[in-house]
Amino acid sequence: MKTAIVYYSKHHGNTKRLVDAIARLGDITLIDASSGGRTDLSAYDLIGFASGTYGFQLHTSVLEFAEEHLPRGKRVFVVYTYGAKRPKTDALVRIFRAKAAQLLGTFGCPGFCTFGPFRLIGGIAKGRPSEQDITEAVTFFNELIARCAEKT
Ligand SMILES: Cc1cc2nc3c(=O)[nH]c(=O)nc-3n(C[C@H](O)[C@H](O)[C@H](O)COP(=O)(O)O)c2cc1C
Repeated sequence: MKTAIVYYSKHHGNTKRLVDAIARLGDITLIDASSGGRTDLSAYDLIGFASGTYGFQLHTSVLEFAEEHLPRGKRVFVVYTYGAKRPKTDALVRIFRAKAAQLLGTFGCPGFCTFGPFRLIGGIAKGRPSEQDITEAVTFFNELIARCAEKT
């Protein structure tokens, strides 16, 4: 199953730690949504969108990438981290619907945050994602791939 993950992870690299662990499972292409790199996703069977939470949402670069470059009819999944509260994913889900994408699953966990006043108290969600979080992200992806294999 040819897989790509489009990600944005700038605050502490929290989301990237999850994405990297998933990518170690196989030949998975990682695309930084903010770097202006590869944009042709037509060759991929499965496409993940991964991001930290920025202002209650997934990062706009990931939403814009999906809007502009997600081909129609793909299988997709979502991975996110957040400091205090899970992000709203409605905007991304709307894009998926408009592009007839099949959302196979979503995984989220807390990620260390030192944004604004949280820096004064040494940050929140310290030590996250933890090893346990990373293991759960990998399990999430393995189960998702297994479900894909059943359906094909
Ligand atoms: C500018 C900014 C805005 C953020 N907004 C939120 C938010 O609205 N809700 C939340 O729970 N966490 C928020 N966070 C915390 C991040 O989502 C969290 O630390 C995440 O793990 C960062 O992912 P990254 O290291 O992969 O970029 C914010 C962090 C920054 C720097």
